[in-house]
Amino acid sequence: MRNEDRVLVNVARLTVWSVSLCLLLMGFMLVIVWLPGQPTEPGLPATDPVAKQLWSPPDSTGIPDTPEGDLIRYGRELVAHTAVYLGPSGTVAPISNGMNCQNCHLKAGKKIWGNNYSAVASTYPKFRARSGTIETIERRVNDCLERSLNGKALEEGSRELDAFVAYIRWVGKDVPEHTAPEGCGIKDLPLLKKPADPERGKVVFVAHCARCHGEDGQGMRKEGPEWLYPPLWGPGSFNTGAGIYRLSRMAGYIKMNMPNGVRADSIVLSDEEAWNVAAFIISQPRPQKDLAGDWPDISTKPFDYPFGPYADAFSEVQHKLGPFGPIVAAKEPK
Ligand code: HEC
Ligand code: HEC
Repeated sequence: MRNEDRVLVNVARLTVWSVSLCLLLMGFMLVIVWLPGQPTEPGLPATDPVAKQLWSPPDSTGIPDTPEGDLIRYGRELVAHTAVYLGPSGTVAPISNGMNCQNCHLKAGKKIWGNNYSAVASTYPKFRARSGTIETIERRVNDCLERSLNGKALEEGSRELDAFVAYIRWVGKDVPEHTAPEGCGIKDLPLLKKPADPERGKVVFVAHCARCHGEDGQGMRKEGPEWLYPPLWGPGSFNTGAGIYRLSRMAGYIKMNMPNGVRADSIVLSDEEAWNVAAFIISQPRPQKDLAGDWPDISTKPFDYPFGPYADAFSEVQHKLGPFGPIVAAKEPK
């Protein structure tokens, strides 16, 4: 090789080296500038860590074709058409009032804000202050049978109780343990500053509810053992021990779901109308339950539990209709 050639080769090598070094440096700088904008953990958004995903229920066509799948399907059938099997003329046993679980747990417990079952599998067994015990899903189902359906409990180990539980577990199967997704259960409405007013609630009832549930609130039958429109009070309704007898549960359920068919994006009632019509409904006569064993620790009674004795100085009327703000404030640790 001639001298000039050797110089040329060296120059070429040097150029390749410096270009590579430059590219490498630019790469480093890109990484440094880009990194802080990225999530610290895969799958977590970089901003707004509190934004919750709206629950998306599983599709019933995904229930497997196995004996376990058959149990789940039977459970769904029992939730949707309880009266056929467990109502006064039920084919399995006459142990409940003729309502369906689905009358309150809408779309077989799959409707967003429709008192759905999204967080049952993920949070039970759990301690419940009403009974003062740790409750299984079986026990919780029986609670609703005895109260919301004003009936009797199913026996542990019965095919029906197993089916309810299998279905409810399946509905919540995709929800991570110990969490409740957005849209779960019943929505908490903002509290009113004044008591809810049953008289004004009656006006709402006549305008928005009576056409289905009847002027007398006794609902309307269809062919067969089920209600076309279930009763809201009277002998065929839930009893005074039911969760929906508490004003906040009733108001939140009504606001997000009634008149039947409304959803979060098609609400009809204002918050105040929902509280007032709920107050009207819970002021009507209904079956009584012996509640002596409930809330063994009276300081755990919810702010809207309408039966004393209480650990605070507020009256039964205020615990029933509000205003609840002062009661809630008095509960907060000082
Ligand atoms: C009259 C209305 C009504 C009927 C009918 C009803 N429930 Fe309920 N159920 C409720 C209310 C209200 C709650 C409590 C919701 C809350 O506290 O936010 C509840 C809670 C539950 C829960 C616990 C949910 C949770 O997230 O902790 C289960 C499980 C349940 N019901 C099952 C049933 C089954 C099964 C039936 C039929 C045998 C039934 N319910 C019938 C109103 C009803
Ligand atoms: C278009 C008819 C219709 C209208 C109007 C309507 N409801 Fe209902 N309501 C229903 C049906 C149907 C169910 C049971 C849903 C199911 O089984 O899928 C129901 C269930 C309920 C329940 C729970 C079950 C029970 O019997 O306790 C309450 C409470 C309720 N409605 C209150 C109201 C209130 C309050 C209004 C007026 C703001 C209202 N509804 C308007 C049809 C209607």
